[in-house]
Amino acid sequence: MYTNPVIYARLIINNRRFWIPCMFLFCLCAITIAIQQSDKVETPISTQVLQDFPYSLSNSLSYNEVKLLLDQLFNSETSLLNIQSIWNKLIEVWREILTKFLRDACELCHQNDSYCYESIDINRYIYYINESFYPINEIKRPVGMGIYYYFDLKTLRSVNNSILPTDVSQCDYFHMIQLMMNVQIILHQSQIKYFLTKGTLIGVLRHHDVIPWDTDIDLFIPSSATQKILRAFRQLDSLSTKLPLKTTTATTTTESSTARAPKDRPSFQNDLIVYRFINVHKVTSYKIFSLRSPIVNRTNYRWPKIDIFPYEENATHIYAYPKHQHNLGTMNYIAKTNVEPIYLRILGPLLVPSPRNLRLSIKAMIKLGRSNVFYACEGNTFLHRYNRGSVETWRIPCKELQNSYPLVKNERNATSSLCFEELKFPHLNQSLSLYKYRCEEDLQRTL
Ligand SMILES: *[C@@H]1O[C@H](CO)[C@@H](O)[C@H](O)[C@H]1NC(C)=O
Ligand SMILES: *[C@@H]1O[C@H](CO)[C@@H](O)[C@H](O)[C@H]1NC(C)=O
Ligand SMILES: *[C@@H]1O[C@H](CO)[C@@H](O)[C@H](O)[C@H]1NC(C)=O
Ligand SMILES: *[C@@H]1O[C@H](CO)[C@@H](O)[C@H](O)[C@H]1NC(C)=O
Ligand SMILES: *[C@@H]1O[C@H](CO)[C@@H](O)[C@H](O)[C@H]1NC(C)=O
Ligand SMILES: *[C@@H]1O[C@H](CO)[C@@H](O)[C@H](O)[C@H]1NC(C)=O
Ligand SMILES: *[C@@H]1O[C@H](CO)[C@@H](O)[C@H](O)[C@H]1NC(C)=O
Repeated sequence: MYTNPVIYARLIINNRRFWIPCMFLFCLCAITIAIQQSDKVETPISTQVLQDFPYSLSNSLSYNEVKLLLDQLFNSETSLLNIQSIWNKLIEVWREILTKFLRDACELCHQNDSYCYESIDINRYIYYINESFYPINEIKRPVGMGIYYYFDLKTLRSVNNSILPTDVSQCDYFHMIQLMMNVQIILHQSQIKYFLTKGTLIGVLRHHDVIPWDTDIDLFIPSSATQKILRAFRQLDSLSTKLPLKTTTATTTTESSTARAPKDRPSFQNDLIVYRFINVHKVTSYKIFSLRSPIVNRTNYRWPKIDIFPYEENATHIYAYPKHQHNLGTMNYIAKTNVEPIYLRILGPLLVPSPRNLRLSIKAMIKLGRSNVFYACEGNTFLHRYNRGSVETWRIPCKELQNSYPLVKNERNATSSLCFEELKFPHLNQSLSLYKYRCEEDLQRTL
């Protein structure tokens, strides 16, 4: 009857009766395929997640113990064998921190649902991070390492004051971190190189976490890996980029009122979707989210999500394309020697790869206003959760926030060219996060 495929497609999309069972079948299929696929994945480690609950704090380390370990880790006189043993000790502490985080979050957000515990394979997560950054030889001595040695979800993510109200609840934060862990596992499994960029890069440098008032996580991958990423996650057809907005609205409204995933279930690796997104400047990015998360109004994606930006590269440089319309800082190009070796940085309870030269990376990857990111704290210009611009955009000196939000304090030792960072909490007489790294220059910091 209808020979024009576009008209036909629109009819299908506008027809609620057809669409609802279709969505249901699609989810069912995706989950079935995922279960079959995950059976085939062979990893050298156990896929068991359940650790010994309840977690006990008795093995965690104090400030002084962590500091001593980090000092030894970056002392050029420490033997490689000792470096490895210190590294392993830190990773083991980190395992406990992650376990506690998951336990707390599952109790808080899912009424202690056992499904929640199984939603993250901590062993596999740690296995991949350790494998990629382990100081296996002299060349792989750590460039940077540290740990949020006491991470308490309820205390640390409870700030919501009148200065910067946030719409990210503790459980939203948990779901963001949970999503990030699963995305990291899949990126490592698929051997895709990735590192932090944009707001998340500011976050790890300034707060050892996602920026407290930010709502998503941004990663960079080489554009040559985009096919791999589409294969690794199943793709949701990007209807919104092919069809006029009107049709898209109809689609999402239908979907959100019916096929919305139950909120009381955690996101899970099997439910992850990659969604190809092309903005008005024809810049392609990929949004990864869980089918169990709520849909964002007037879009085909869900929140929380992770934004993945592909970058181009030649033998010596990386750059984003199209240059001036890409919403990345002055990403004309940055030399690979300034990005690599990527090294681990603290993102709340996680460790994530970051570009090496901070000053140049910030310049290249972050759209800067008139001032630097350690001096000026800026609110979101875009609310990812609601898919709309912010009602108020603001920019205030970060110093004015030091009585409300945790900020990183940095000290550089010019003799050793090592920098030491700790997180200063407004209401705690203690920093809970310590980090050390090789730094070529002093970055002007907030504190
Ligand atoms: C990290 O990886 C190394 C090398 O594969 C291994 O010997 C070590 O036991 C791992 N450490 C942890 C804590 O898993
Ligand atoms: C949550 O579940 C764990 C393991 O199933 C159990 O040990 C713990 O007591 C439970 N906590 C609550 C608050 O029910
Ligand atoms: C934070 O406070 C604002 C204003 O008081 C409120 O609208 C918002 O829901 C709160 N967010 C959270 C996550 O509690
Ligand atoms: C890579 O691109 C940069 C920036 O355009 C350029 O300066 C450099 O010469 C290129 N390198 C090679 C090997 O083509
Ligand atoms: C989505 O849109 C509907 C209708 O405009 C509105 O009632 C609802 O609050 C919106 N939800 C979010 C999360 O913005
Ligand atoms: C700086 O590093 C040098 C060499 O490692 C060390 O001797 C010195 O005590 C350090 N200075 C401070 C203030 O920590
Ligand atoms: C803060 O901690 C230091 C060292 O742990 C201690 O000497 C000091 O008394 C503490 N201050 C307060 C106000 O608790």
